[in-house]
Amino acid sequence: MKDLLQITDLTSDDLALLLELATGFQDDPGSAGHLLAHRMVPMYFATPSTRTRLSTAAAVTRLGGTPVTVGPDELHVRHGEPIADTARVMGSYSAAIVIRTPADADVREAASAAPVPVVNALTDGHHPLQAVADLLTVQEHFGDLRGRRVAYVGGGGSVARSLMEAAALTGMHIAAATPLGYEPPDEAIAFAATEADRNGGCFVLTTDPVEAVRGADVVYTGGRPPAGGPKDDRARRRKALIPYRVDEHLMALAGGDAVFMHCLPARRGEEVAPGVIDGGRSLAFRQAANRLPAVQAVLYALLTGRLKGHR
Ligand code: CP
Repeated sequence: MKDLLQITDLTSDDLALLLELATGFQDDPGSAGHLLAHRMVPMYFATPSTRTRLSTAAAVTRLGGTPVTVGPDELHVRHGEPIADTARVMGSYSAAIVIRTPADADVREAASAAPVPVVNALTDGHHPLQAVADLLTVQEHFGDLRGRRVAYVGGGGSVARSLMEAAALTGMHIAAATPLGYEPPDEAIAFAATEADRNGGCFVLTTDPVEAVRGADVVYTGGRPPAGGPKDDRARRRKALIPYRVDEHLMALAGGDAVFMHCLPARRGEEVAPGVIDGGRSLAFRQAANRLPAVQAVLYALLTGRLKGHR
């Protein structure tokens, strides 16, 4: 497996390996400190990023390499150079390429052309690095994943999709509550249902946040509208998501030891009550911290050929 473009690229064993490696990097951050010696990892971010950009830069540094961030105005992509040409050239200087850009097709095109691993750092369809960090955080908190109940409440975008796909690969029970018209794509629903069932878990999609969170170990919200989508869709989406705000009342319906998770950045008061995200049951900032060992594990595994994928 050369690239990580979406969670469905991974097998259950691949994901388990990533979590094991990430746990190892939590304990010993410098254990592969020469892997990228004298090598560069360019990170192309066409849209803003705090966590993904900086955690990846830190991970590349921990692996002994040099991260170089480039924005949309610094490359010729925006002015007509095909992304395939850009990726092919970048790859000739680099150990791997990290890309955040709205269109999944662009990341796939870059991966096809690049001679080195390409990692999706968020598209409108997928956020695999976030999902690996999310499961690392759940595992770290509870000590296990299989059989744990995760409730996702909000819009069925990239974060929800990658989370439910990853949770399904581990045998978690997943309930996603999304407004009508903002469900995850059909192929993601099919994957989550099939893989959850195969791994001893289950997948339920509902429009009712109360149904989703009842008895949950994890209540998760967050995500963002597609960066490539029309502006008026954003206002409509915000309105549709009002009943999906996670507040103290909704958290009270979850399990007694339930935790709250959010990928950040958070819109306090809109998608989550301040008392929930800043309260004692919130793992949001632990998730953010875990982005670093998670991306370190992904880069390490890809660069050492440890992931099998579905070939
Ligand atoms: N969660 C996440 O991807 O954050 P950034 O947009 O800051 O990278």
